[in-house]
Amino acid sequence: MPSISPKAVADAVAQALSAISGASTGDDLKAVRSAFVADASPIAALNAQLKDIPADEKADAGKLVGSARAEINQAFAAREAEILAGEEHGRLLAESVDVTAVASRRAVGARHPLNLLMEEMSNIFVGMGWEVAEGPELENEWFNFDALNFDEDHPARAMQDTFFVEPAERHLVMRTHTSPVQVRTLLGRELPVYVVAPGRVYRTDELDATHTPVFHQMEGIAIDKGLTMAHLKGTLEHLARAMFGQGAKIRLRPNYFPFTEPSAELDIWHPTFRGGARWIEWGGCGMVNPNVLRAAGIDPDEYQGFAFGMGIERTLMFRNDVADMHDMVEGDIRFSQQFGMVI
Ligand code: FA5
Ligand code: MG
Repeated sequence: MPSISPKAVADAVAQALSAISGASTGDDLKAVRSAFVADASPIAALNAQLKDIPADEKADAGKLVGSARAEINQAFAAREAEILAGEEHGRLLAESVDVTAVASRRAVGARHPLNLLMEEMSNIFVGMGWEVAEGPELENEWFNFDALNFDEDHPARAMQDTFFVEPAERHLVMRTHTSPVQVRTLLGRELPVYVVAPGRVYRTDELDATHTPVFHQMEGIAIDKGLTMAHLKGTLEHLARAMFGQGAKIRLRPNYFPFTEPSAELDIWHPTFRGGARWIEWGGCGMVNPNVLRAAGIDPDEYQGFAFGMGIERTLMFRNDVADMHDMVEGDIRFSQQFGMVI
């Protein structure tokens, strides 16, 4: 007659418990279940033997095997719960989103200080009742030169180094200054006019610390009855003080432009430029030449006026101590950002 030895039961339990505690994943558990818990396991085999043992031993053997199975099943269930909880935890961790984390910010750009400056200068004029106009950068030679009293073969036409645009018979240039907007303004508006025109201009200049081939100017033109040089000087002084502070000084030096008569170079006093105080050229100006008024169909005996045009890059240099124009054209965002949104 077969019998079930307590040692065989204890061995089966010990083997099963050690395998259960050694399992660390769901896959481990599956293997442990089929080897030590399920039908093919030693404890299941002992259980199967119960039916063959003598009747008087059955009750004790049944208890022994039954409590052994229960112990194994409990240990298995407990380990299974631990492992499942651990895997769930890991999954939650992996899927978790830290809602307090600092998001990576999208880099914002910055407006270019030259644009800010043109806007600020325009606003100073708008505050005095002037209007703001624009003209094309690809310009008819006639507006850029002829209407401004540059003779066909006057040497003054070579005064500004021009980008001529092909085909030559179309007579197009990249405008060399904002002065053609003077003529467009006179042809397009009712008198009197008080207009500023900021914008980009082009010359075949080499890029260096104080020149660039593509730069910006701001043109001004005022045509009314009885305007004089005194109005011109007063307007420029107001602009200079608004831009550079109450202590700003300007100086007009006689000069030549075909479209103004008399003409002057406009200098501004800079207290620290390049290590010392000095006058530097800011722009040109003068009383509008009667020939320009006539080209626009205006009677110079009835209306007179003044015009001026200054460099915006130069303005930024003087105002914000930018020593080198390379910084203004290279487009490094760090240069623009230091000016913020207001300069
Ligand atoms: C003119 O362009 C005239 N149209 C100005 C004018 C307007 C005179 C109205 C009379 C009446 P000029 O070539 O000097 O003038 O240029 C004016 C200013 O533009 C200069 O004083 C300087 O501030 C700026 N400028 C000229 N060339 C460059 C350059 N290559 N890079 C940066 N700024 C420049
Ligand atoms: Mg000049």
